[in-house]
Amino acid sequence: MGRPRLIRFVLCLLTSRALLQVAEAADNPCAAGPPVDTNPAECCPTPMLVDGTIMMDCYQKYGEQTKKQLQMDGIPRGCCIAECAMNATNMYADGMLRRDDLSKMFMDAVQSKPEWMSLVRDATNACFELAEKRMEEIEAGAKLEPSFEGEKICHPISGTILRCMGMMMFAQCPASVFNVNDNCNKLREYGSVCPMI
Ligand SMILES: *[C@@H]1O[C@H](CO)[C@@H](O)[C@H](O)[C@H]1NC(C)=O
Repeated sequence: MGRPRLIRFVLCLLTSRALLQVAEAADNPCAAGPPVDTNPAECCPTPMLVDGTIMMDCYQKYGEQTKKQLQMDGIPRGCCIAECAMNATNMYADGMLRRDDLSKMFMDAVQSKPEWMSLVRDATNACFELAEKRMEEIEAGAKLEPSFEGEKICHPISGTILRCMGMMMFAQCPASVFNVNDNCNKLREYGSVCPMI
């Protein structure tokens, strides 16, 4: 029950327009979409870093608007699903995430999964560095005006961090967890450079 939604949400997190733009500059390996229709969660069951109930609740509130926003061009819009989740866990305030508390929350989420610990720790640092580099674009996204009836504008920092975590975990999925087969291998190659919707 509710599982397809959850999976779709994880995919929303894996989406990254910024990476797509990098890819488009070269020969675009993302143009044709994922090479297989295998579900990423079947290839690598990544741990949930945020409480599942909170995620479902936020998806229910902002899933529709997020799908619309992902189709739009221009400065990337903040993911309200992510901001809603960061609000619910007290990690977000005034355009900033509480980095230390968030790192702790992520580590707590994998405390019974030792194969994920160092990966999650490194990914957290890498993702905050990435956000730092993209701060100009992130701040610009926070200042956008609603472009359709009822659109809520969220600060892009939460989505940037959660999406980055999702991509890193999938791309570096521990060997003991990764389901090795042709389709999953192709998907991992694709998922390490391309957004997956
Ligand atoms: C998160 O909380 C801030 C207040 O700190 C609020 O302005 C914002 O609208 C909230 N975001 C969501 C998605 O609920």
